[in-house]
Amino acid sequence: MGDTNEFNPHYEETFDNSHELYSDMRSRCPVAHSDAFGGFWALFKYDDVVEVQEDSETFITSVLNVVPPATRNQGRRAPLHYDPPEHRMYREHINPVFANSQIQKLLPRIREAAVDTMRPLVEQGGFDYTRDFAEHFAAQCFAMILNLPMDKMLRSRQAQVSYYRAQVILDRPNVVKWSDELYNIAREIVEDRKQNLLDPSSDLVSSLLTANERGGDISEEAVVGSIRQFLSAAQAAPQAVLGSIIVHLCRDRALQDQLRATPERIPDAVEEFLRLYAPYRVFARSAVRDVEIGGRLIKQGEPITMIFPSANRDEEIFERPHEFDMDRKPNRHIAFGRGAHQCPAASLARQELRTGLSVLLELTTSFAAAGEVKMTDWLEFGPSSTPISVVAA
Ligand code: HEM
Repeated sequence: MGDTNEFNPHYEETFDNSHELYSDMRSRCPVAHSDAFGGFWALFKYDDVVEVQEDSETFITSVLNVVPPATRNQGRRAPLHYDPPEHRMYREHINPVFANSQIQKLLPRIREAAVDTMRPLVEQGGFDYTRDFAEHFAAQCFAMILNLPMDKMLRSRQAQVSYYRAQVILDRPNVVKWSDELYNIAREIVEDRKQNLLDPSSDLVSSLLTANERGGDISEEAVVGSIRQFLSAAQAAPQAVLGSIIVHLCRDRALQDQLRATPERIPDAVEEFLRLYAPYRVFARSAVRDVEIGGRLIKQGEPITMIFPSANRDEEIFERPHEFDMDRKPNRHIAFGRGAHQCPAASLARQELRTGLSVLLELTTSFAAAGEVKMTDWLEFGPSSTPISVVAA
């Protein structure tokens, strides 16, 4: 293992200081070793991240896929813990459920969920956009993919939050405890769906459960593991990015007014927000042999994290990388990753971001910061609390 501590992920994070640090790392030490979390390498440059993402023969996830390492006490969970070609089979039965055409059918329900959750909050004159709205909204949207009642969804959100908290402080007994709880919830969902199969083209659990009828080879336990993984993945990044968008728009009132007046620009704006505020820096790989990246020797098996929020502001790829510019063409951001493990739920996530933003703009004539923005932690870049005051439309 590299023996220098060139990057320390443990610091009091603000909305801006990580981006300042990442700029410095890109210019000074773009492939850096950290002693934290048992030791890992961090990649800050766009091209290095893309290289690792696209070469899944050399850089694998079956040994580890996040830093700090997630527990695998009940085995590997598909799709993220599997490498191609095995990984492909899971994606074949996951991707269709998240196809843009499927997500478009959910649009009226996604919008209704956003309006119903946000309207009473707006009427109060102020609320915490992340805690009161975005977290709940992300759970509502994923409940549509799972065809799950909200009480069960909220139980999984609670378990997921506790699991993450334990993971970041390396509290192994609680990591295992909350991971097991997420498994219990996933198992209940799968058991229930076995009795009441739904349309596999729109229901994730039914698609995985019936995969073997369509040439797949997926055991019931593997379905449970996969749903367990989705329960975590679905309820983390959307609220982090939504919170970042709101902080940005509280600071830039002209842009807020512009988007309110021209909602057709919201999709382009969301792409640029994804570039500026990519949430993930925990996703990791290990190399199957010793490799050299950016002139640094990385030994076989050492954890390598990809710092997406840094890659997306790499000045060698993006002009004026810290500026918001929704006219960037093309906008080559990699917030959803690249290659085999690219986010299967990007269409859903984009829709969550567009709707979560547009409904706030529609229901208000203005909103402003009304308290301290608190950041999440290493597991995601983005706020955990965004108090705002609003003027109802
Ligand atoms: C703004 C929101 C989101 C962002 C920025 C995001 C980003 C990412 C990224 C960067 C990866 C690649 C990980 C890697 O290469 O190691 C990924 C994978 C994944 N994401 Fe997302 N994601 C988002 C929302 C979601 C949602 C809502 C879900 C579930 C409904 C989801 C489920 C997954 C899963 C299961 C994987 C693993 C895919 C595989 O290994 O094949 N994500 N996501």
